[in-house]
Amino acid sequence: MNVLDQLQRPLRDLRISVTDRCNFRCHYCMPPEVFGPDYEFLKKNMLLSFEEITRLTTLFQKRSGIKKVRITGGEPLMRRDLPILIAQLSSIEGIEDIAMTTNGSLLPKYADQLKEAGLDRVTISLDTLDDERFKKINGRNVSVDTVLKGIEAAKSAGLGIKMNMVVQKGINDQDIIPMAEYFKDQGHILRFIEYMDVGNSNGWKMDDVFSKQEIINRVNEVIPIEPVEPNYEGEVATRYRYKGSEGEIGIISSVTDAFCSSCNRARLSAEGKLYTCLFSSKGHDLRGPLRNGKNDEEMMQLIRDIWTKRSDRYSEERTSQTKRDSKVEMSHIGG
Ligand code: GTP
Ligand code: 5AD
Ligand code: SF4
Ligand code: SF4
Repeated sequence: MNVLDQLQRPLRDLRISVTDRCNFRCHYCMPPEVFGPDYEFLKKNMLLSFEEITRLTTLFQKRSGIKKVRITGGEPLMRRDLPILIAQLSSIEGIEDIAMTTNGSLLPKYADQLKEAGLDRVTISLDTLDDERFKKINGRNVSVDTVLKGIEAAKSAGLGIKMNMVVQKGINDQDIIPMAEYFKDQGHILRFIEYMDVGNSNGWKMDDVFSKQEIINRVNEVIPIEPVEPNYEGEVATRYRYKGSEGEIGIISSVTDAFCSSCNRARLSAEGKLYTCLFSSKGHDLRGPLRNGKNDEEMMQLIRDIWTKRSDRYSEERTSQTKRDSKVEMSHIGG
C-alpha cells in the first residue's frame, strides 16, 4: 500500500503547518530584523481551510497508511479556532496520534479545548530557564514563567508533554544542565536540538553548533546517561536514559549525525505546498489542484508522484557550509 521514494523510504509521518505567524521572534527561526512590521505573512485566502487540511490528511492516510500527524506553524495556536481542526483530524479513521509543536505561551488558554478535541500530546519549545537569556532568544521579551504556565496547563489537561531545546554554542549551552535537571524532576523528556541552517535568515555558522557529542559529554559528567533503543523506525531523536531512573533525554543531531536515510516525513505548508525536506527550496502545490476540483483519485496520484520522485538528503550532504541559499523558512513548514 505504501509508496517508496528514490532512496526506498516510505511516507509515514505528516507534519502540517497551519500558520506562518508567531508571537515570538526567536533569532534562529524568525529573526526580528527580517520578520519585522513590514513582513508579509500569508493572507487568509492563501491558507488551506480546515476542510482542505482534513481532506488532504484523509487522502494521505488512505494513500500511505499514515498513523501520525503533527501540527506545526509558526506558532499553531495563532491560527483561530484550532481545536476545530483537531476535532476534524481526530475523526479520520486510522489517525492514531495527533501531536503539536508549540512555544507554549497560549496553552493556558487552549490546552483543555485541545485535549477535548482529540489532541494527544504537545512538544513545547524552551531554550533556557534563565529569564534574561530567554527574553533575548525569543525576541519578544516573553518570560520563562509564561512557558512554564503553558506546561502546567498541558499537564493538567492530560496532554503528553515533551520539551525541545535548541542549543547554540555560547548562547545557551550553559543551560543544558539546569534544563536537564529541571525536566528530569518534572518527568518530561527533554530533547536537545543541534542548531540548524534552516531557512536563509538566521546567519547559521558551523561554529555556533554545539554538537551531539558535546551535549552527551556535558550531561553525562553531571548526570550519567546510557543509550536506549529507538521507540520506532525513523525516530528523529537518539534516546538516552538517566542511569538508574526511568527519565530520559533525546538528542536531535541533524548537523553532526544526520538521519536522512530513515526520513519518512512529509511537510505540508499552511498554503498547501508539500515539502519533501526541511531544507527544500521549493514545495509542490496541492492547493491549486484541490481548488480546481481534482477528485480523490487524482489527488492521491499527485501525492504518489511527488513522493516517488523524492531523493532529498540535505543533512547528509551538508558540510560546514550551508549548502543552498534559497531554502524554505522554518516558520513556513514548522520543524
Ligand atoms: P515524536 O513524534 O515525539 O518522536 O516527535 P519528533 O521527533 O518527530 O519531534 P519533533 O517534531 O518535535 O521534532 C523535533 C525537532 O527535530 C523539529 O522541531 C526539528 O527541529 C527537528 N527535526 C524533525 N524532523 C526533522 C527532519 O526530518 N530533518 C531535520 N533536519 N530535522 C528534523
Ligand atoms: N535549528 C534547530 N531547531 C530549530 N527550531 C527552529 N529553528 C531551528 C533551528 N534553526 C526548533 C524550534 C522548535 C522546533 C519547531 O524547531 O525551537 O522546537
Ligand atoms: Fe516561533 Fe517557534 Fe520559530 Fe520561535 S522557533 S519564532 S516560537 S515558530
Ligand atoms: Fe529528512 Fe531533509 Fe531532514 Fe534529511 S535533511 S532528515 S531528508 S528533512
